[in-house]
Amino acid sequence: MKVRRFGVSLEEDLLNKLDRLAEKHAFPNRSQAIRYLVRDALVEDSWQADSEVAGVIVLIYDHHKRNVVNHLLNIQHDYTSLILSSQHAHLDHDNCLETIVLKGRASKIQELSDRLIAIKGIKHGKLVISGPD
Ligand code: NI
Repeated sequence: MKVRRFGVSLEEDLLNKLDRLAEKHAFPNRSQAIRYLVRDALVEDSWQADSEVAGVIVLIYDHHKRNVVNHLLNIQHDYTSLILSSQHAHLDHDNCLETIVLKGRASKIQELSDRLIAIKGIKHGKLVISGPD
């Protein structure tokens, strides 16, 4: 893809903040930091506009807790058209980490995520929305 250069005028204070952000994320330069910010804003827009997005749900739970695994599976089977894959890792004797990779309408992904994270016995859950555009 063709890369074009353009000039950006920023207040010194804001430029310092951009440089600190670039440092924090270990971006090699300001261009990469700006790319990240633009893409992040576009993903946020897609989410708001309920467009097609990609996403990942991460869940941590104790598999000994009554019915948690059953609930997880039952709910996921209601959303088979969204789910591309899922991966299960046994963290230790009690805890499991599950990642579910998704593609589809932002609102449906949000709905599935809300339902899964609300299951009794889920210790932590997080949805990350992303996308190539
Ligand atoms: Ni496990």
